[in-house]
Amino acid sequence: MSPGKRRTSPTIAAMGLVVMLQLLAMLTTAVAVNPTGQACDVCECKGPVVICTGRNLTELPRGIPNGTKALELGDNFLREIPYDGLLEFRSLVKINIANNLIKTPFKLPGSVRVIFLDVNRISEIQPGGFAG
Ligand SMILES: *[C@@H]1O[C@H](CO)[C@@H](O)[C@H](O)[C@H]1NC(C)=O
Ligand SMILES: *[C@@H]1O[C@H](CO)[C@@H](O)[C@H](O)[C@H]1NC(C)=O
Repeated sequence: MSPGKRRTSPTIAAMGLVVMLQLLAMLTTAVAVNPTGQACDVCECKGPVVICTGRNLTELPRGIPNGTKALELGDNFLREIPYDGLLEFRSLVKINIANNLIKTPFKLPGSVRVIFLDVNRISEIQPGGFAG
Protein backbone atom coordinates (compact mmCIF):
# COMPACT_ATOMS: atom_id res chain seq x y z
CA MET A 1 0.00 0.00 0.00
CA SER A 2 1.13 3.54 -0.61
CA PRO A 3 1.51 5.68 2.51
CA GLY A 4 -0.48 8.46 0.88
CA LYS A 5 -3.76 6.65 1.30
CA ARG A 6 -3.35 6.54 5.05
CA ARG A 7 -2.81 10.23 5.58
CA THR A 8 -6.14 10.87 7.31
CA SER A 9 -6.53 7.69 9.28
CA PRO A 10 -9.64 7.42 11.45
CA THR A 11 -7.42 7.56 14.55
CA ILE A 12 -5.94 10.91 13.58
CA ALA A 13 -9.34 12.29 12.67
CA ALA A 14 -10.71 11.14 16.05
CA MET A 15 -7.80 12.76 17.86
CA GLY A 16 -8.51 15.99 16.04
CA LEU A 17 -12.11 15.84 17.17
CA VAL A 18 -11.07 15.22 20.77
CA VAL A 19 -8.74 18.22 20.68
CA MET A 20 -11.52 20.38 19.25
CA LEU A 21 -13.93 19.26 21.96
CA GLN A 22 -11.35 19.98 24.61
CA LEU A 23 -10.81 23.47 23.23
CA LEU A 24 -14.54 24.03 23.19
CA ALA A 25 -14.82 22.85 26.81
CA MET A 26 -12.02 25.25 27.83
CA LEU A 27 -13.73 28.15 26.08
CA THR A 28 -17.05 27.35 27.74
CA THR A 29 -15.39 27.18 31.15
CA ALA A 30 -13.63 30.49 30.56
CA VAL A 31 -16.95 32.17 29.79
CA ALA A 32 -18.66 30.60 32.81
CA VAL A 33 -16.12 31.94 35.30
CA ASN A 34 -15.74 35.37 33.70
CA PRO A 35 -16.23 37.62 36.74
CA THR A 36 -17.67 40.51 34.76
CA GLY A 37 -19.90 38.35 32.58
CA GLN A 38 -23.60 38.03 32.62
CA ALA A 39 -24.56 40.13 35.65
CA CYS A 40 -23.08 43.27 34.16
CA ASP A 41 -24.78 42.54 30.84
CA VAL A 42 -28.29 42.09 32.20
CA CYS A 43 -27.81 44.55 35.05
CA GLU A 44 -26.07 47.87 35.43
CA CYS A 45 -22.74 47.72 37.20
CA LYS A 46 -21.63 51.05 38.61
CA GLY A 47 -18.38 50.26 40.33
CA PRO A 48 -19.26 48.26 43.45
CA VAL A 49 -23.00 48.80 42.94
CA VAL A 50 -24.87 46.24 40.85
CA ILE A 51 -28.34 47.41 39.87
CA CYS A 52 -30.69 44.68 38.69
CA THR A 53 -33.91 46.40 39.75
CA GLY A 54 -36.93 45.52 37.63
CA ARG A 55 -35.11 43.39 35.04
CA ASN A 56 -37.65 40.56 35.06
CA LEU A 57 -35.02 38.25 36.53
CA THR A 58 -36.17 34.76 37.47
CA GLU A 59 -32.83 33.72 38.90
CA LEU A 60 -29.76 35.30 40.38
CA PRO A 61 -27.55 36.47 37.52
CA ARG A 62 -24.20 34.75 37.15
CA GLY A 63 -20.89 36.48 37.33
CA ILE A 64 -21.71 39.12 39.92
CA PRO A 65 -18.32 40.83 40.36
CA ASN A 66 -16.46 39.94 43.52
CA GLY A 67 -16.15 43.17 45.47
CA THR A 68 -19.78 44.15 44.94
CA LYS A 69 -20.94 46.24 47.91
CA ALA A 70 -24.57 46.86 47.02
CA LEU A 71 -26.78 44.43 45.18
CA GLU A 72 -30.11 45.77 43.97
CA LEU A 73 -32.38 42.88 43.05
CA GLY A 74 -35.75 44.46 43.85
CA ASP A 75 -38.84 44.20 41.62
CA ASN A 76 -37.98 40.93 39.90
CA PHE A 77 -39.38 37.40 39.80
CA LEU A 78 -36.65 35.65 41.77
CA ARG A 79 -37.97 32.42 43.30
CA GLU A 80 -34.83 31.78 45.30
CA ILE A 81 -31.33 32.88 46.05
CA PRO A 82 -29.18 29.73 46.09
CA TYR A 83 -28.59 28.92 49.78
CA ASP A 84 -24.85 29.67 49.70
CA GLY A 85 -25.01 31.73 46.51
CA LEU A 86 -24.07 35.06 48.06
CA LEU A 87 -22.03 33.86 51.02
CA GLU A 88 -18.66 34.41 49.36
CA PHE A 89 -19.40 38.02 48.41
CA ARG A 90 -17.54 39.27 51.42
CA SER A 91 -17.69 42.95 50.46
CA LEU A 92 -21.48 42.99 50.33
CA VAL A 93 -22.95 45.61 52.66
CA LYS A 94 -26.42 46.18 51.24
CA ILE A 95 -28.85 43.90 49.47
CA ASN A 96 -32.34 44.68 48.23
CA ILE A 97 -34.55 41.74 47.28
CA ALA A 98 -37.88 43.47 47.87
CA ASN A 99 -40.73 42.49 45.57
CA ASN A 100 -39.68 39.05 44.48
CA LEU A 101 -41.09 35.56 44.97
CA ILE A 102 -38.46 34.17 47.29
CA LYS A 103 -39.76 31.55 49.72
CA THR A 104 -36.63 29.75 50.81
CA PRO A 105 -33.94 30.90 53.21
CA PHE A 106 -30.42 31.72 52.15
CA LYS A 107 -27.20 32.79 53.76
CA LEU A 108 -25.56 36.19 53.62
CA PRO A 109 -21.97 37.15 54.40
CA GLY A 110 -21.27 38.82 57.74
CA SER A 111 -20.46 42.11 56.02
CA VAL A 112 -24.12 42.79 55.18
CA ARG A 113 -25.61 45.63 57.22
CA VAL A 114 -28.74 46.56 55.29
CA ILE A 115 -31.36 44.18 53.92
CA PHE A 116 -34.57 45.12 52.13
CA LEU A 117 -36.89 42.17 51.72
CA ASP A 118 -40.49 43.44 51.69
CA VAL A 119 -43.01 41.40 49.77
CA ASN A 120 -41.39 38.01 49.67
CA ARG A 121 -42.35 34.88 51.52
CA ILE A 122 -39.18 34.19 53.38
CA SER A 123 -39.62 32.95 56.93
CA GLU A 124 -35.97 33.24 57.82
CA ILE A 125 -32.68 34.36 56.41
CA GLN A 126 -29.84 32.33 57.79
CA PRO A 127 -27.49 34.71 59.56
CA GLY A 128 -24.62 32.86 57.92
CA GLY A 129 -21.62 35.00 58.69
CA PHE A 130 -23.18 37.54 61.01
CA ALA A 131 -20.88 36.34 63.77
CA GLY A 132 -17.75 36.75 61.69
C1 LIG B 1 -40.31 43.04 31.73
O1 LIG B 1 -41.46 42.42 31.21
C2 LIG B 1 -42.46 43.35 30.82
C3 LIG B 1 -43.70 42.55 30.43
O2 LIG B 1 -43.38 41.55 29.51
C4 LIG B 1 -41.93 44.21 29.68
O3 LIG B 1 -42.90 45.15 29.29
C5 LIG B 1 -40.69 44.94 30.15
O4 LIG B 1 -40.10 45.65 29.09
C6 LIG B 1 -39.67 43.94 30.70
N1 LIG B 1 -38.55 44.67 31.29
C7 LIG B 1 -37.28 44.39 30.99
C8 LIG B 1 -36.25 45.24 31.69
O5 LIG B 1 -36.96 43.50 30.21
C1 LIG C 1 -13.85 37.04 46.51
O1 LIG C 1 -12.50 37.14 46.84
C2 LIG C 1 -12.20 36.72 48.16
C3 LIG C 1 -10.74 36.99 48.44
O2 LIG C 1 -9.95 36.48 47.42
C4 LIG C 1 -12.53 35.24 48.29
O3 LIG C 1 -12.31 34.80 49.61
C5 LIG C 1 -14.00 35.02 47.95
O4 LIG C 1 -14.30 33.65 47.95
C6 LIG C 1 -14.32 35.60 46.58
N1 LIG C 1 -15.75 35.55 46.38
C7 LIG C 1 -16.30 35.14 45.23
C8 LIG C 1 -17.79 35.23 45.16
O5 LIG C 1 -15.65 34.73 44.29
